[in-house]
Amino acid sequence: MRFTIPQGSQYHSPGTVHVEADASSASYFIALGAIAATEAPVRIEGVGLDSIQGDIRFVDAAQAMGASVSGGPGWLEVRRGAWPLKAVTLDANHIPDAAMTLAVMALYATGTTRIGNIASWRVKETDRIAAMSAELRKLGAAVTEGADFIEVSAPHAWRAASIRTYDDHRIAMCLSLAAFNPLAPNGPPNGVPIRILDPQCVAKTFPDYFEALFSVVQPAADAVPVITIDGPTASGKGTLASTVAARLGWHQLDSGLLYRATALAARRLGVADTDEPGLAALAATLDLRFDGEQVWLGGMDVASELRLEQVGAMASRISALPTVREALNALQLSFRRLPGLVADGRDMGTVIFPRAALKVFLTASPAMRAERRHKQLISKGIPANIADLRADLEARDERDRNRLVAPLKPAQDAQLLDNSGLSIDESVAQVLDWWAERGPFRST
Ligand code: C5P
Repeated sequence: MRFTIPQGSQYHSPGTVHVEADASSASYFIALGAIAATEAPVRIEGVGLDSIQGDIRFVDAAQAMGASVSGGPGWLEVRRGAWPLKAVTLDANHIPDAAMTLAVMALYATGTTRIGNIASWRVKETDRIAAMSAELRKLGAAVTEGADFIEVSAPHAWRAASIRTYDDHRIAMCLSLAAFNPLAPNGPPNGVPIRILDPQCVAKTFPDYFEALFSVVQPAADAVPVITIDGPTASGKGTLASTVAARLGWHQLDSGLLYRATALAARRLGVADTDEPGLAALAATLDLRFDGEQVWLGGMDVASELRLEQVGAMASRISALPTVREALNALQLSFRRLPGLVADGRDMGTVIFPRAALKVFLTASPAMRAERRHKQLISKGIPANIADLRADLEARDERDRNRLVAPLKPAQDAQLLDNSGLSIDESVAQVLDWWAERGPFRST
């Protein structure tokens, strides 16, 4: 119950201490390799076959189900071996945590997998036998549970499911592997979506689990959902987009910033706003990096400079140049990453992401927008005049609407949202409602 450190003790460096990674966390990637790694293996570093952690024995169980595993000190490589996976009957008393992953591997196996001697599951973060049974059944699996065992057979017909996680990190992590259902023997060719509720519960042991998973998964080109929010200057796109992105846990693209960054780079280098080839070359090679609120351009944080009115005005002028727009295309598309993207600008729904799942077009009167911009500037201590602001934004609207390439207009299938009389929360709620209506999880 206690450690006693004698008085006068001194720190003595042992040289190098290697702290091994967590073997139970590795189980999800071992399973992923067994399910999906048909070409290159999944390589796991930080824990290897020499580990003395109990849960490394999960490797034996995964191999019994068909995983092809090689490894050495501090590393493992896992590929698909037998396919479909093979059902096993296993006493999992020695690997209770990692054994939850086996219950999900059973969705990819022929036959019934029985995981026994796991009474401890009932008294973990939640009653894991009950929880796993309920959630696996939602997917269509046949499940039998007992006081200290669970039996799982793969679904004959997979169903889209919204998975409850019971504030249990392992339920969130292991059931995320059900998302590979198109690969399953009876899997739906186009896949059924799996929603993991309260995914932040993974923070208990593996805060960036989903990021790690996404980093080894290449989604089909059109599979990453996009919501576009277009509209005129000062219509509140930015705030709406960043709030919706935060609520969904998605990435955000503020495309105006790319035009602004091009304008700023041009000002710095003395490239004139009429020099189309020069501007396009700059746009194509922007050294731009986003880090939270910071925006790094060529090694300097330019977040506040980008917001200056002169920079916005130049951005508006150069954004009418076709080759400048084209030069920014690839960069804009590269923001489309799992789990999803909210993109705001002028042509997100019409040109850049024409197949976006939800397109929103904001409309607010020029008077209202001028007032908002005025408040915004004043609150930052920047002097401003409403009449000038309104004239300026009307001039920008005019230019954005009438330019030949990517003029500002709602996509045909856009939802129009006049937010003049709406609070930010109301606009956010409306967009999230529209999004929920489009998904398979309407009722949750
Ligand atoms: O939205 P923001 O004011 O930051 O954009 C700066 C300028 O970039 C706008 O005035 C608009 O002319 C241009 N722009 C564009 N297409 C986008 C985003 C911004 O033409 N997708």
